[in-house]
Amino acid sequence: MKRLMYIAMLTALAAVPLMAVAKSELASPNGRLQLTVDVNDNGQPCYKLDFDGNEVIKPSLLGLTGRQGNFATGFTIDSVATASHDDMWKPVWGEYEQVRDHYNELAVTFVQVRENGVTMTVRFRLFDDGLGFRYELPEQPSVNYLTVTDEATEFNLVADNTMYCIPGDYDTDEYLYVTSALSKVATPLNALRGRHSESHAIDGVTVQTPLMMKSPDSKTYINIHEAALVGYPAMSLDVDTLTYGLSAHLTPDRNGVAAYLQLPFNTPWRTVIVADNACDILASQLIYNLNEPCKIEDTSWIKPQKFVGVWWEMFIGKQRTWAYSDYYKAKPGVTDYAKLSPNGRHAANTANVKRYIDFAAENGLQSVLVEGWNEGWEDWASFLKNRQFLFDKPYPDFDIDELQRYAASRGVKLMMHHETGANAADYERQLDRAFQFMVDHGYNSVKTGYVGAIIPRSEYHSSQWMVNHYLYVVQRAADFKIMVDSHEAVRPTGLCRTYPNWLAQESARGGEFESMGGNPPEHTTILPFTRLKGGPMDYTPGLFETRLSYYGEGKTGQAGTTLARQLALYLTMPSPLQMACDLPENYRRFADAFQFIKDVPVDWSDSRYLEAEPGDYITVARKDKNSDDWYVGGITDENARTAVVDFSFLPEGVDYVATIYADGKDAHYKDNPQSYQITTKKVNRKSRIKQAIAPGGGFAMRLTPQK
Ligand code: NOJ
Ligand code: CA
Repeated sequence: MKRLMYIAMLTALAAVPLMAVAKSELASPNGRLQLTVDVNDNGQPCYKLDFDGNEVIKPSLLGLTGRQGNFATGFTIDSVATASHDDMWKPVWGEYEQVRDHYNELAVTFVQVRENGVTMTVRFRLFDDGLGFRYELPEQPSVNYLTVTDEATEFNLVADNTMYCIPGDYDTDEYLYVTSALSKVATPLNALRGRHSESHAIDGVTVQTPLMMKSPDSKTYINIHEAALVGYPAMSLDVDTLTYGLSAHLTPDRNGVAAYLQLPFNTPWRTVIVADNACDILASQLIYNLNEPCKIEDTSWIKPQKFVGVWWEMFIGKQRTWAYSDYYKAKPGVTDYAKLSPNGRHAANTANVKRYIDFAAENGLQSVLVEGWNEGWEDWASFLKNRQFLFDKPYPDFDIDELQRYAASRGVKLMMHHETGANAADYERQLDRAFQFMVDHGYNSVKTGYVGAIIPRSEYHSSQWMVNHYLYVVQRAADFKIMVDSHEAVRPTGLCRTYPNWLAQESARGGEFESMGGNPPEHTTILPFTRLKGGPMDYTPGLFETRLSYYGEGKTGQAGTTLARQLALYLTMPSPLQMACDLPENYRRFADAFQFIKDVPVDWSDSRYLEAEPGDYITVARKDKNSDDWYVGGITDENARTAVVDFSFLPEGVDYVATIYADGKDAHYKDNPQSYQITTKKVNRKSRIKQAIAPGGGFAMRLTPQK
C-alpha cells in the first residue's frame, strides 16, 4: 500500500472572533503576495491581491446567490481565523516525486445582520505561487438547501493583459486558442465560436478556464482556474473589455439553475496562480495542493503507461469504420447485429487487433486501445438521435475471448473503449455490468467518450449533473480497479490527485484534429499553460506520417508539426497515459526515431522548466522516476528558434551520454516535416547546448549516465 507521506513542519491556528472586523490581511509565506479581504458599503464581501506591492487583482466581489438565500450582500465580517501549513505529499504519479504544500490561510466568516440573515465562510489559502479561495456554506436555520442561480465572484484585473483563451461554451473545449489583448478579445473569440459538433457557445464575451494571461509589460503571469470541482458546475469567465473585469459564469442546466446544493456545502476553490515568469506558472502545483489527498487506499494497480490503438486508421481517410456494417444507412435502430452483413472495412476485427498486440509486445508498450469493438455504432452514426451503445456486446468479428488469451500470452493489456454518444443516463444504468465485463475479460483501463448532446437533455457537458457523473464513473471504476481516460468530459481541476486512477482526460482540442483542419504549432505551446494546469491530457502525440496526402483518398494538407516535435510532446505535455497514435507501419518506417517513444518514461521524479513563453516555446527537463536518466524536450511555435539547454540540473560528478532527436537543418512543418537527425553528445552539469528548432519543430533528448 502506497500511503501519502506527511511531514508536518508547522501548523499554527489562531481564531480571532472580533466585533465587526473592518478588514483582514494575509501575506504569502515569502511575503510577495498580499491579500486584503473586506466588505464594501453594500455589505458585499470583496478581496484584492497584490504582488510585490503592485495590484494584480483590484477590489473584486465575492459571494453567490440562490433562490432560498442571498450569500452576496448585506454582510459584515463576524470573525477571522488564520492558520499556516507546510508539508510534503507524494503523488502516485506525476511530474514530481513529492510536492510541497505551503500556505498561509485566512478563513473569514461573514454574517448578515438582518433577521433570517445567513452566514458564510470564505476560506483563502495564499501560497507563494498564488491564491485559492472557496465558499463554505454551513448548515443554518434559515437555509437548508440552495438553488444557485449565480456566483458573484470577480477577478478585476488592473491592465489590458494579453489573454490566451478559448470561447466560453457549456459543451466543448475543443477549440484553438485566441491570443489577444483583453480589450480586443471579443472579435477573435466570436470568430471561433460554435464551430464544433458538441458546441453550445455562451452568448457574450466569455472565456473558459484555465485562463492564461500576461501583463502588458510582460512582468506578471496570471492563470485563473478552479480546483476540486465536485458537486458544482464548471466556471467560465465573463469579460468586461472596458474595465478589464472578469466575473464567474457558472454552467446552468437548461432550466437556468447552476447548482442544487444541500447545506453544508463547500464550493470548488477559485484559483489565481501568479508569477513573474512563465516557467513558474508551468511548475505550479497550487491546483493539486487544493485538492484532497488520495482517497484510494491501495494504488498498486494504477499503472502509468503507453499505448497504441486501433484508432488513427479510422481518422485518416483509409475508410476504416468504427461500425461493423453500413446497415444504418438503410434503417436506423438495429437489433440483431449477428445477422448484419459486415461492411468489410470494420477496423476492430480480431486479426487487426492481433497486429497491434504484436506491435505493442515487440516494442514494450503496455496496452492496445480498440475502438469500434461493440454494438451500437450503426445507431450512433444514424445521427445522434436515440443512440445506445452496449458495453458488453462485442461485434461478431471481435473475438473477445481469443483476444484476451492472445494479449495475455504476449504480456499486453487491452484498453476498453466506452463511447457513450453522450447518453450519460444510459451509461450509468450499464456501468456496473460494463465494468464487470471488463474485469472478466482482463481489461484494467477504459477510455470513455461523450460525443454529442447530453442525455439527459436537461444537461450540458459542464453542468452540475455531468460533473457529478464523470466523478461517479471514476469512483466506481476504482471499486473495480479500473483506470480512466475520459474524453469530452468537463475540463479537469486537479481531481486526479484524489483519484489517481483518473489517469488522463481529453477536454481540449487534441491531436485528432490534425486530420480535421489541423492544429497550428502554437497550440501545444499554449495547452501546458491552460488545459494542463487541471491535469494530464490524452493529447495522442507520436504522429510521424504528418502529410495527410500520404493516406490518399482525397485527404490533403499537413499536420502543424515536424516529426521531431512529436517526440518533444511526450515531455512538454506530461501525462501518465501517453498514446503512440500513428500506425505500426509508420513507426516501422522511422524505427530510429520511434526508439525515443519506446524509451520515454511517463512518470517522473523531478521536472525543471528551463525556458517558456505561452504561445511561443517551452523547454523542459525531467528525471525518470525509475532510473537515473534525464530527458529534455523543447518545442517552438511557427517560428524557428534556438533553445538554450543549460544542464546545471544534472548531479555533480556524473557524465551523461545525450541522444538528441532534432529537426534536420532544412526541416519545416509546412513542407519538410520528416527531416530529422539523431546525434549523440557527452554532457555534464557544466554543459550548455544551443539547439536549433525548425518552424513548427522540436527536439527531444535522452540523457543516460555514462558507465
Ligand atoms: C472522440 C474522441 O476524442 C476520439 O478519440 C474517439 O475516437 C471518438 N470520439 C469516437 O469515440
Ligand atoms: Ca507565437
